[in-house]
Amino acid sequence: MKPVTMKTTANPQRRRILITTAAIGTLAALPARAQTPLNIGIIGSGRVGGELGTSWARAGHTVMFSSLDIDQDRKLAASVGANARAGTTREAAAFGEVLLVSVPYGALPQLGKDLGALLKGKRVIDTCNPFPNRDGEIANWAREKGAGFASAELLPGARIVRAFNAIGFAKMGAAAQAAGPRIGMPIAGDDADAIAVTSRLVRDAGYEPVLVGGLAMGRHLMPGTPLAGEHTPEQLRKIAATLS
Ligand SMILES: NC(=O)c1ccc[n+]([C@@H]2O[C@H](COP(=O)([O-])OP(=O)(O)OC[C@H]3O[C@@H](n4cnc5c(N)ncnc54)[C@H](OP(=O)(O)O)[C@@H]3O)[C@@H](O)[C@H]2O)c1
Repeated sequence: MKPVTMKTTANPQRRRILITTAAIGTLAALPARAQTPLNIGIIGSGRVGGELGTSWARAGHTVMFSSLDIDQDRKLAASVGANARAGTTREAAAFGEVLLVSVPYGALPQLGKDLGALLKGKRVIDTCNPFPNRDGEIANWAREKGAGFASAELLPGARIVRAFNAIGFAKMGAAAQAAGPRIGMPIAGDDADAIAVTSRLVRDAGYEPVLVGGLAMGRHLMPGTPLAGEHTPEQLRKIAATLS
């Protein structure tokens, strides 16, 4: 494996991003046999969780769907097939080497309490967006704090990566089959291993991951921001460079 050459920069935040990006490049270069399928716990199997869980099951991973309605999750799992099953949120959290948390933001405080120690050290992909009109006062708090830091506080111990925050769920389900150049998916997180696993799952869902920074940058990953919507990876990098 060739040694990773890192650029030097005076800006510590930028430097951290470069180092993390280099680490991901190194992980991505691992031989294919290291890429064993993952067990993925889907917590919130609604529009986003249902579409992404289905894509990942089709890509060869095993998913466990969970929500507040296990009958619905059982039906969903049966429709997806052999790589899918259903469970409670605690069962999904225990099952997953990585979790997709995709619930209304207002549900996160209770979810954090329900899952408790199961979140400790767990890789969590956070699609959740805070909307005051849907989620109430906690959404204002999260927007002020920044959605990445807020999610990390509400899901203590989890290694959070924000992703899939600002592309419509219907497009997410179709992306893996879409022809042509891949749309970029901005992601933000602080943990190199969680970022690497998220990047792999972003690719398996049909997008090209673009690390835009640490969890602090998570506040830019939601609808209504310059990073929202469909952009090429290069466009996302240019937009991210203008944000702080
Ligand atoms: N819709 C989009 O296009 C889109 C795109 C990007 C990001 N997002 C964000 O992603 C999140 C999910 O969006 P969505 O559109 O998929 O929502 P959704 O269709 O309403 O699904 C939400 C899921 O969360 C479950 N849930 C609610 N409270 C829960 C709790 N306390 N514990 C466990 N599960 C719980 C629901 O279960 P029940 O059905 O049993 O209540 C449902 O399965 C939101 O924060 C949203 O802002 C949405």
